[in-house]
Amino acid sequence: MGNKGNFFYVTTPIYYVNDVPHIGHAYSTVSADILARFKRLSGFNVLFLTGTDEHGLKIEKEALSRGISPKELANNVHIKFKELFKSLDISFDRFIRTTDDDHIKTVQKVFSELLSKGDIYLSDYEGWYCTPCETFLTEKSLINGNCPECGRPVEKIKEKSYFLRLKKYEAKLLEYIDNNPDFIKPSFRKNEVVGFIKEGLNDLSVSRTSFKWGIPISEDNEHVIYVWFDALINYLTGAGYLNYQRDDKYNKDNENNFINYFGSLHHVIGKDILKFHTVYWPIMLLALELPLPKTVFAHGWWLMDGKKMSKSLGNVVNPVEVVDIYGEDPLRYYLMREVTFGLDGDFTLKNFTTRYNAELANDLGNLVSRLLAMVKKYRNGVVPVSSEINADLIDYALNLRDSLDKRYENFEFSKILEDVFFFINKVNKYINDSAPWKIDVNNETENKFLDSVLRSSIISIYYISYFIYPFMPGTSNKINFMLNVKLFSDGGQFLVPDDIFKEGFKILDETVMLFPRLNISGSKS
Ligand code: ME8
Ligand code: MG
Repeated sequence: MGNKGNFFYVTTPIYYVNDVPHIGHAYSTVSADILARFKRLSGFNVLFLTGTDEHGLKIEKEALSRGISPKELANNVHIKFKELFKSLDISFDRFIRTTDDDHIKTVQKVFSELLSKGDIYLSDYEGWYCTPCETFLTEKSLINGNCPECGRPVEKIKEKSYFLRLKKYEAKLLEYIDNNPDFIKPSFRKNEVVGFIKEGLNDLSVSRTSFKWGIPISEDNEHVIYVWFDALINYLTGAGYLNYQRDDKYNKDNENNFINYFGSLHHVIGKDILKFHTVYWPIMLLALELPLPKTVFAHGWWLMDGKKMSKSLGNVVNPVEVVDIYGEDPLRYYLMREVTFGLDGDFTLKNFTTRYNAELANDLGNLVSRLLAMVKKYRNGVVPVSSEINADLIDYALNLRDSLDKRYENFEFSKILEDVFFFINKVNKYINDSAPWKIDVNNETENKFLDSVLRSSIISIYYISYFIYPFMPGTSNKINFMLNVKLFSDGGQFLVPDDIFKEGFKILDETVMLFPRLNISGSKS
């Protein structure tokens, strides 16, 4: 219900339904999920939006080639995305489809408003179009006559079109970029955008007349609205702009929160669609007199074994298969750990299985299982009380905890995981060095030392469970379940360990395997 306090709105791109999801789509969505989960755990009101982009020529053509209608294609494929996101434990608040009723109405309303303000006007378009990229291109931007983005052939088009005034807002946009260093991230992407704007913006064509699969303009139904204009508005629809009613619990509760959420908007996208999110979209918002996004984070590109993933190469990583074999958390972990967010990465099953076995099964999985076994063996499952808590461990955990806000703000996912796993190994080493199995429990001093080792390690594991929660929510839940403490995913907040592990506190008898050892070579799947 919360409409007090801090708000956080995070979005993924909405994905085209011409093809089934692959690892790149999983990547953007998992990273947004991590932010959403961290912010919820920190007490924010979070709105997390993802979904599918279902209109446009590309979808129409694909449907035609399959002998079905575009809507049927969208109905079939959007389910694949939903299923993938469910299997990846994505905690979205809404999965928007651009064919949803409230979205269609919102797009038409926005178009009408800009038309009546004079920010959209009717003229003639003559130029080139790349259908795979759904992008208008000028003659001089073509490379060897092909699309400068994807290298594929382009089509010549000449038709009446509505245009959005971009030039008018050039100076305002540059000023916003200048005054808001967090707007475009990573910061090395900023020059690219500023350079593009400074070349001078041409007004953007925002309608087409030569095909039908799009949202019709209310004032002129010869035209359908340009798919990118339609798609970007999903971020407005999803936050309840104009309050069109949807049969959706979330929107009803948050009817009046549009501006709260929209004022704290964070986009996660791939670097391929940076221009749309940092030039066209903010100009649409300037024209609508709405606040601009706080951050647009453009992440890098995944290759497969060093090569671009493509259907023709047959090397597309199917995230559903990876999850089927290893579970969702190992995939979430690998994607976030393997490369610095913002840079390109190379997906190899060899690296994936190495990390799975070494870091997840061995470092983390074994730590938890052997520690819980020791508490059961030596203390009948009761977490001992002790005034001697290992300061080295606790200081490390506290420092890490205090650094999290800043690091999430900077999207430093792999660095966070690196430090969490450094901590995990610190706890492992501490247990090894303390060697509880050598302790003489009949010796009072040694027995007290054992209390201290067990308690320090249990508290450390509770911290670890908290640290990994955004990345591996299922694993964190399993750890909390075995520790017999409230799951973070059930609205549990991080509590001071001493308030949980009081005198006589017992962990659960039950054990759950975190990461079964898999004897799978990198070649399987
Ligand atoms: O562009 N590596 O949809 P799309 C990393 N509908 N990320 C990848 C990737 C890869 N190899 N491949 C795809 C569209 N992505 C529009 C967006 S938003 C209003 C409309 C991810 O299905 C990455 O986030 O082509 C990229 O931006 C997005 O998928 C493109 O998905
Ligand atoms: Mg694409």
